[in-house]
Amino acid sequence: MNVVVLAAGMGKRMHSDLPKVLHRIAGRSMLAHVIDTAKALPDARITVVIGHRGERVREAFPDPSLRWVTQEPQLGTGHAVQQAVAHLDDDVPTLVLYGDVPLTRIDTLRGLSELAAEGSDSARPAGSALAVLTVMMNDPTGYGRIVRSPDGKTLAAIVEEKDATAEQRAIREINTGILVAPTSALKRWLRRLSNNNAQGEYYLTDIVALANADGVPVLATQPSFVWETIGVNSKGQLAELERQAQRNYADALLAAGVTLADPARVDVRGALECGRDVAIDVGCVFEGRVRIDDGASIGPYVVIRNAHIAKGARIEAFTHIDGGADLASPIEIGSGAIVGPYARLRPGARLGSGVHVGNFVEVKNSVVGNDSKANHLTYLGDATIGARVNVGAGTITCNYDGANKHRTTIEDDVHIGSDVQLVAPVTVGAGSTVGAGTTVWKDVPPGTLALNDKTQVAKDGWKRPVKKPKP
Ligand code: UD1
Ligand code: CA
Repeated sequence: MNVVVLAAGMGKRMHSDLPKVLHRIAGRSMLAHVIDTAKALPDARITVVIGHRGERVREAFPDPSLRWVTQEPQLGTGHAVQQAVAHLDDDVPTLVLYGDVPLTRIDTLRGLSELAAEGSDSARPAGSALAVLTVMMNDPTGYGRIVRSPDGKTLAAIVEEKDATAEQRAIREINTGILVAPTSALKRWLRRLSNNNAQGEYYLTDIVALANADGVPVLATQPSFVWETIGVNSKGQLAELERQAQRNYADALLAAGVTLADPARVDVRGALECGRDVAIDVGCVFEGRVRIDDGASIGPYVVIRNAHIAKGARIEAFTHIDGGADLASPIEIGSGAIVGPYARLRPGARLGSGVHVGNFVEVKNSVVGNDSKANHLTYLGDATIGARVNVGAGTITCNYDGANKHRTTIEDDVHIGSDVQLVAPVTVGAGSTVGAGTTVWKDVPPGTLALNDKTQVAKDGWKRPVKKPKP
C-alpha cells in the first residue's frame, strides 16, 4: 500500500531546535517508530511529508526506499497529503500516518486496512471504502469529532473542534487522524478540499463528507489501546508516551519470563533480548542492542549499552557497561563472570568466563582471559590478559605515551601485586609474579619475579613537624 507520513508540523510547543519528529521515544526518533511500523506492512511505499527544518529530518533517514516531499507553507493536513499525490499508486490503497504518533501497533493498521477492503459490496470494487481509526475520549478537547450517520454504522463527517457546534463538541468519539483511503478517490477528494473553515486550512478530515457525497462508505474501527493514537505536541506528552513505551517493553519482558524488581523502573532504549531466568533490579537502563543469556542477573542502577552478557553472569550495582555505538562489536561478558559494583567497561572490553572485575575498575579495548580477576581500583586499557591472572589493587596499564597508545600483554597465571604500573608496550611472561609497587617498564620473563630496586630506611629519632603557633 501507499503510506503517507505527515511530518511537516512545526512542533512549536516542544520549545526545541530539534524538529519534533526527531525527538526520541525509547531511544529512537518518533518518525523512526512510525516508519518501522509502516515497513512491517506488506509492500509499503512510504512517502514522508516534511516542512519546517525538513532537511534535518531527511538526513536522519538515509534509507533510499523512502520518498520525501516538502510542504511549504503548511496549509493543513489535506494540503500536506496533496503534496504526496504524485507518489501514490492508484492500484493500492493509501494509509495516512502522523510522524508524531509513534506507538501505533501494526495489528491496528492491519485491521484498518482490512476494514477498508471489507467495505466492498457487489456494486463497488474491493478496497473502495474509507476507513478511519477513531477512539472514545473522556475529554475530547482539541480533537476532530466523529459525526456518525443516523444508523451509527458509518461516519457522516469529521468536524474540527473550532468548527463544531456545542452539540458536536459533546461527542466523545474523536478522529485519531489515521485512515486508509482508496487512492484514486482520495486524489479526487483532495482536489475538492477548500479552506473555508475556522482555521483557514485544507482539512484532510473533509474527505469524509466528500466520500459520503460520492456514495463511498466511511467506516471506523478502534485500536486496542488509546495510547496507540496519542500524538506528541509538548515535552510533557513526550514524557508520558515514553513511560507508556517503557511500560510496554516491561510487560513484554515479564511475559517472556524475565524477573523485573519493578516494571516501572527499567528503561529500554533499543532492543533487549533475555534468556530464561534473567533478573533485573531497579533503575537499569539498556541502550542499543543488549543480550542477556540464561540465569544472568543485573543489579540495581546498572547502565548497559551494546553488550552480550553470557549465562549466569552477575552484574552488580552501579556498573556502567558501554559498548559504544558499533553494534558489530558489543562488549562481551563471559559466563559466570562477576562485574561490579561500580565497575566501568568501555568499548572493546571482552571478559572471559569466570572473570571478576570489581569496584572502580575500568576496562577498555582489552581482553581478559577466563577466571582472571581485577577486583579493585584498576585501569586495564589496550591490554591482553591471559587466563587465571590476578591483578592487584591499584594496578594501571600505562597505555598512552602522550602521542600513541600501546598494548600490555599479561600471559596466563601471572600474579600482579598491588599498585603496579605496566608501561606499554610490555609483556609479562606466563607464570611470573610482579611485586607490589613495581613499575614494569621492560618485559618480564616467564616464571620470574619482577621487582624494582627500592630501599626502605628506618630513621631513628625522627621527629614529625609540629604546627607553628599563630603570631
Ligand atoms: C488533526 C485532525 C483532527 C484530529 C487530530 C488528531 C485535521 C484537519 N484534523 O488535528 O481531526 O483529531 O489531528 O491528532 O486533519 N501536518 C502537516 N502539515 C500541515 C498540518 C499538519 O504535515 O500543514 C502534520 C503535523 O505535523 C502532524 C499532523 O499533520 O503530524 C497533525 O497535525 P496537527 O496540527 O496536530 O492536527 P490537528 O489540527 O491537531
Ligand atoms: Ca495535533
